[in-house]
Amino acid sequence: MKSIISSLFALYFLSLSSSAHAQCHFPAIFNFGDSNSDTGGLSAAFGQAGPPHGISFFGSPAGRYCDGRLVIDFIAESFGIPYLSPFLDSVGSNFSYGANFATAGSPIRAVNTTFRRTGYSPFSLDVQVVQFSNFHNRSQTVRSRGGIYTKMLPEANIFSKALYTIDIGQNDLTAAYFAKKTVKEIGTTDVPELISQFKTAVTNIYKEGGRYFWIHNTGPIGCLAYVIEWFPLQASDFDAYGCASPLNHLAQQFNDALSQAVTELRTSLSEAAITYVDVYSVKYDLFAHGQSHGFNTPLVSCCGHGGKYNYNRKTGGCGKKITVDGKEILIGKSCDEPGKAVVWDGIHFTQAANKIIFDKIVTGLNMACHKQ
Ligand SMILES: *[C@@H]1O[C@H](CO)[C@@H](O)[C@H](O)[C@H]1NC(C)=O
Ligand SMILES: *[C@@H]1O[C@H](CO)[C@@H](O)[C@H](O)[C@H]1NC(C)=O
Ligand SMILES: *[C@@H]1O[C@H](CO)[C@@H](O)[C@H](O)[C@H]1NC(C)=O
Repeated sequence: MKSIISSLFALYFLSLSSSAHAQCHFPAIFNFGDSNSDTGGLSAAFGQAGPPHGISFFGSPAGRYCDGRLVIDFIAESFGIPYLSPFLDSVGSNFSYGANFATAGSPIRAVNTTFRRTGYSPFSLDVQVVQFSNFHNRSQTVRSRGGIYTKMLPEANIFSKALYTIDIGQNDLTAAYFAKKTVKEIGTTDVPELISQFKTAVTNIYKEGGRYFWIHNTGPIGCLAYVIEWFPLQASDFDAYGCASPLNHLAQQFNDALSQAVTELRTSLSEAAITYVDVYSVKYDLFAHGQSHGFNTPLVSCCGHGGKYNYNRKTGGCGKKITVDGKEILIGKSCDEPGKAVVWDGIHFTQAANKIIFDKIVTGLNMACHKQ
């Protein structure tokens, strides 16, 4: 008798602890962000990102600024969800299991200029959240018509069960830097404002019913050719791995503020489970210790032409074509082995790098429905 009771107790505690650590399953993902997670939004709005994007996996351009899959694609795969359709793509999209509001070039802050003039996407984070809110409402109105719409749009209860993933901020930091603001000025004036707008965005998604948030911090921008090459830096600005320290410190300053914001959001949004994901460290490690993964020249872009990093802002980057004697020639070509490069085009990570990043965060991903 006694042994039955104690084994019942053991069972009880076992089930308690296993429910606290049960793997999470999400039936849908709603994603917000920039090119780090754009699966075709900017391409739908402003024209396709051309070859050789997509060569390593999709075989042709697939709306991603990458040779293959992004971290968000690996996340979708891991939950058995098809790759996310871009909200802006009106052709062949299926939103039953979520939608992707991210576009390449999106900042947190509203953009006051045109895409053609500056290359920043007009779909800033606040706009993406408005689009999401509109999607939430309209999808239900249209779904109620029945038929095919029930196979293309999410059920009403999906919104509170879905994972809300966010990866944004990189373009705000680089835009301010390219506008010749000092790193110190950006840290003290821009960062607090960006974080405040970020908190507003998460709060607005929560008001729409979002409960599970997966928030990537920003990467080591000082290791990316497009940032390093912009202004002449001093030798003393570079760390042991060739990354520009002032820019990485700026990214870390943003990340510290973001982490603090997440702590505050956990209090203000009491029903939410919010995970802060340190992708910075994982990405930085690829530059610092890439050799162990076969990345021998981690700062050098796979796709591009010319310059120290195979990246050339002035003559055009990955996918650049020139006309010689009436014939078009691709000069912004892919390297032979994209699987051995960290950086794809001077700005974005390769599929090989994205897979490693995903592998380092997947344990946390499976716990993202639990409050911390
Ligand atoms: C755009 O304009 C608004 C209103 O004038 C301003 O608050 C905002 O900071 C501007 N954004 C940028 C990126 O300059
Ligand atoms: C959509 O918005 C309309 C107008 O604001 C509102 O009446 C309706 O209840 C909303 N529907 C859903 C499903 O949220
Ligand atoms: C959309 O995807 C869902 C989930 O994979 C599937 O059940 C549904 O049939 C798809 N809709 C269409 C129109 O293909």
